[in-house]
Amino acid sequence: MEIINDIHQMQKKAEAVRNSGKTIAFVPTMGYLHAGHLALMRAGRQRADVLVVSIFVNPAQFGPKEDFGSYPRDLDRDSALCREAGVDIIFHPAAEDIYPRGYQTYIEVEKLSHGLCGDFRPGHFRGVATVVAKLFHLVKPHLAVFGQKDYQQLAVIRRMVADLNLDIEIVGYPTVRETDGLAMSSRNTYLNAAERQSALALSRSLEQAQQMLQEGERAPGRIEQAVRETISREPATEIEYVRVCHPDSLSELKWVENSALLALAVRVGKTRLIDNRIITTKPGGE
Ligand code: PAF
Repeated sequence: MEIINDIHQMQKKAEAVRNSGKTIAFVPTMGYLHAGHLALMRAGRQRADVLVVSIFVNPAQFGPKEDFGSYPRDLDRDSALCREAGVDIIFHPAAEDIYPRGYQTYIEVEKLSHGLCGDFRPGHFRGVATVVAKLFHLVKPHLAVFGQKDYQQLAVIRRMVADLNLDIEIVGYPTVRETDGLAMSSRNTYLNAAERQSALALSRSLEQAQQMLQEGERAPGRIEQAVRETISREPATEIEYVRVCHPDSLSELKWVENSALLALAVRVGKTRLIDNRIITTKPGGE
């Protein structure tokens, strides 16, 4: 496994791989890897000859009051996990190379970046779209794998790839959960034992919403209210949003016909957690 820090070296390497007729799968990450990331890597590994993982905590996607400074970082641990997962190249660029002095070019995916997390994290998806586009230019992948846990992020990236005619296949991978249902996230490391217990209400409430739909409820407002009540009962929880919306446009729904996206963001203590599920009228859901 190779670790490449230099952006020009990454581009040259990617070019050489492509010229040799091999395909590149790419998993962009901000590091502090967990089993969810490893699942994305396995999906990439199965689909291409060369697997590249980037580790870059992207300053452009954090707000001024967010956890950029304290975001967990451990390159040694991440490298060992990547080696075990069969990664060929870790791309670990420096922030000053990605955003050199005088940097002023950003990508804005207009509608999909608003609503849900976009309303609470202004500029977040502009930062995500920009860095992902830049990483695509540097790593030159044939395909890239993203987790469905960040559902809105995945929608923004798919839209950007379509709108900019990028010749890259985007693979969405189902959310990986702990055995008790908690969606895996690098930020789970911030939770103490009591908060972690409270955090289980998120996945529980998604299941509850699925049950409601299956039993005939079709009104988004009533589903959202039930989910809010379940989460609010747990100590240390503060809901940012609970929304039942259209799975593609992410726009508000007046009524659920067959399926919908239920997306939520909740602060548990000081930790902001997100989760989502496609809820359907069919038994068992997704
Ligand atoms: O999902 C993440 O870890 C980040 O948003 C990403 C896609 C690596 C961009 O910084």
